[in-house]
Amino acid sequence: MTAVARGPSRTAVLTAAARALHREEPPPWVLDDPLAIGLAGDEGLALMQRMRTELSRESLLDFTRWVCTRGRYVEDLVEEEAARGIDQYAILGAGLDSFAYRHGNLLERLRVFEVDQHESQAWKRRRLAEIGVAAPPNLTFAPVDFETETLEDGLAAAGFDWSAPATFSWIGVTMYLTRGAIDATLSAIVKGAPRSSLVLTYNLPMSELSGLAAETSGAMRAIAAEMGEPFVSLFLPDEIEALLRSHGYSDIIHFSPEEALRRYFPDRSDVQLGGAQRIVVGRV
Ligand SMILES: C[S@@+](CC[C@H](N)C(=O)[O-])C[C@H]1O[C@@H](n2cnc3c(N)ncnc32)[C@H](O)[C@@H]1O
Repeated sequence: MTAVARGPSRTAVLTAAARALHREEPPPWVLDDPLAIGLAGDEGLALMQRMRTELSRESLLDFTRWVCTRGRYVEDLVEEEAARGIDQYAILGAGLDSFAYRHGNLLERLRVFEVDQHESQAWKRRRLAEIGVAAPPNLTFAPVDFETETLEDGLAAAGFDWSAPATFSWIGVTMYLTRGAIDATLSAIVKGAPRSSLVLTYNLPMSELSGLAAETSGAMRAIAAEMGEPFVSLFLPDEIEALLRSHGYSDIIHFSPEEALRRYFPDRSDVQLGGAQRIVVGRV
């Protein structure tokens, strides 16, 4: 077991600050998260200013647009799965994700479980109360530390039905975890119900990056390490696919930066996504 962040996660504030920064661009926004700025609070405002001054304009846009693109991809997937009757959604390493507070209609038929480290989750719940955002009835908080506890137990204790299919998202988290914690979590999900799906992000090793991807990734991993949340697990696309297949996942989909540009930024030749972090989906 390796010590990962034990206090409230500060990289969760960082990605909320990125979602808030995206709204400083002229619309349309790939993801519109009006709650991000309030959830991120004063620390978020300071991080927004830090990113504006320390990152090049290209890297700032790469990071903030990517954070919103991955969020949008997940939210689109959850809506598609809900339309197919999958009515449980577990957000692993939820941080300051505000999906549950922005999708009132969907939450009438979707049960959402936010999974995160105990202290991060307690801190988010205080923050939600401070900014006057009520948790919807169909949202349940499930504190789990992936390094020391199991997702099976944490979700079961929160009332999750492991015999029914679910959509799982695990966004911006695997790079902070040990390989043991990643294996344990992948194993828990694949033992769940058929028709479940998992969408996760993974980060490429620095040695594989060049140009904008290297610049953005170098800057962001330095900030994360300074926050006490260093990157510890990195994968190549073939490696993450092999890992998912070895656990029994199938129908693997790699969502490339090129496809993200085509889907979410059509007719925007000015937009660049470096691609240091990638999305992959696997089905149970
Ligand atoms: C960069 S934030 C991403 C938050 C959110 N998914 C997003 O995209 O904005 C990383 C998240 O991983 C969570 N995390 C890191 N290590 C963890 C662990 N051992 N157990 C549970 N959650 C963990 C942190 O608490 C934090 O919420």
